[in-house]
Amino acid sequence: MADQNTGGVHWFRDYSAYIRAHRGKTFVVCLPDACPDDDAGNVYRDLLLLQSLGVRLVLVRGVDERFTAALAERGIERTLHSGLPVTTTASLSVLREVAGAARSLVEAAFSLGLVNAPGASEPVSVASGNFVKARPFGIHDGRDLEHYGEVRSINTRTLTRLLDQDIVTLLTPVGYSPSGETYELDTEVLAYETAVALAADKLIYFGAEPGVLDDTGELIRELPPDATIDSAPRTAELAMAAAGAGVERCHLVSFAEDGALLTELFTRDGSGTQITGGRYETLHDARAEDLAGILALIEPLMEDGLLVKRSRESIEAQLERYVVIERDGLIIACAALHGFGSIAELATLATHPDYRGSDCGDRCLAAIEARARKDGHTQLFVTTTRGGDWFAERGFGQSTIDALPDDRQSTYSRDRNSQVFIKVLRRNQNDA
Ligand SMILES: CC(C)(COP(=O)(O)OP(=O)(O)OC[C@H]1O[C@@H](n2cnc3c(N)ncnc32)[C@H](O)[C@@H]1OP(=O)(O)O)[C@@H](O)C(=O)NCCC(=O)NCCS
Repeated sequence: MADQNTGGVHWFRDYSAYIRAHRGKTFVVCLPDACPDDDAGNVYRDLLLLQSLGVRLVLVRGVDERFTAALAERGIERTLHSGLPVTTTASLSVLREVAGAARSLVEAAFSLGLVNAPGASEPVSVASGNFVKARPFGIHDGRDLEHYGEVRSINTRTLTRLLDQDIVTLLTPVGYSPSGETYELDTEVLAYETAVALAADKLIYFGAEPGVLDDTGELIRELPPDATIDSAPRTAELAMAAAGAGVERCHLVSFAEDGALLTELFTRDGSGTQITGGRYETLHDARAEDLAGILALIEPLMEDGLLVKRSRESIEAQLERYVVIERDGLIIACAALHGFGSIAELATLATHPDYRGSDCGDRCLAAIEARARKDGHTQLFVTTTRGGDWFAERGFGQSTIDALPDDRQSTYSRDRNSQVFIKVLRRNQNDA
């Protein structure tokens, strides 16, 4: 039992940093109608979990297949003209019914609450409404597309107000003009327009495939916004456009794989394809808002004895001494510089276990060395229990406690019995 609990604690620690990184973030999630009901049930369950973790959710639910089927049932033909629908007055009334039914199903799914969770009886509120202003598409290739339209604007003020109250907002591909007309919209484009208008943190497209596949059928895990991929799905193009338009991260994930969204969001490698916008990974001086992330990163390492124990208060008081690497809101590495006259200490160097081996340690060390040289220090020391080789490979020589400044010798913990390493700092041309 104790082992089970310990496993749970480690699991919780591993994920807590991701949970913190996603809390308060706005995700626009597009679920196409091609998603079978059972898979949609799994997706809704995962969205409920995200909502309970503080994610602000806008769900864009497609209805295409149900719409086409309902038209066929009534003997109304779904006309396409040069690839675009012609939405006649007769078909529009069917669309209204189908979209209304889809909304009702989503509301029911979100009323289920989180299974096995205390307070599960409290349903999550879902709101839908006339949030999308539309205009007629007009004439396309010589043919009037009638009630087929495009997004004119999104009422972000109302959406934001609802999201602020933890209400999941639901959009179906229907928009309204100021003159009271109703228009059919493209679901995937609606999701794109909504994410861009809200400056969402994420735009997530569900699809039948796990993500974007290369020529050999292998999944491409990460794409820049300017990638050119032959035969990329349309959702990938929209995701790249959204990333280029300021949506920080876009993801393509599978609805067929149960839990794919959670794997994508809570593990380093993910399950689908992510498209990264401009701000992805930055190294910067620590700011007040980075404190919680630094603590989440180093607390497990302090408990394992790999880092010297420091209180939250002392880290907060010395925050300006830290540099951090932030990736998608998650603090994945940090280090601090404590000056003692001509010598300075590199302390609390840590990389999140998921991100080790990708130069974070080296980048933090380089930033700390540059700062130390700038501050006039000529030597840098570190005390470490298990990182000795790492520092030795980076120009540090093993030394003794006597070489430490007096102030630091007095706080050196004999119990930890750390090794001491010192590096002589030479002026670097790149230093400011
Ligand atoms: C030490 C630490 C910061 C390195 O982080 P990192 O981001 O993985 O570092 P980098 O990516 O720049 O370097 C990774 C390389 O160092 C090697 N490495 C990692 N830890 C090592 C260690 N203790 N001894 C020797 N080499 C080590 C890796 O194998 C890898 O080598 P490779 O590229 O040849 O495969 C990270 O392992 C950590 O957080 N450790 C726990 C805290 C700690 O001990 N801090 C030092 C005391 S302040």
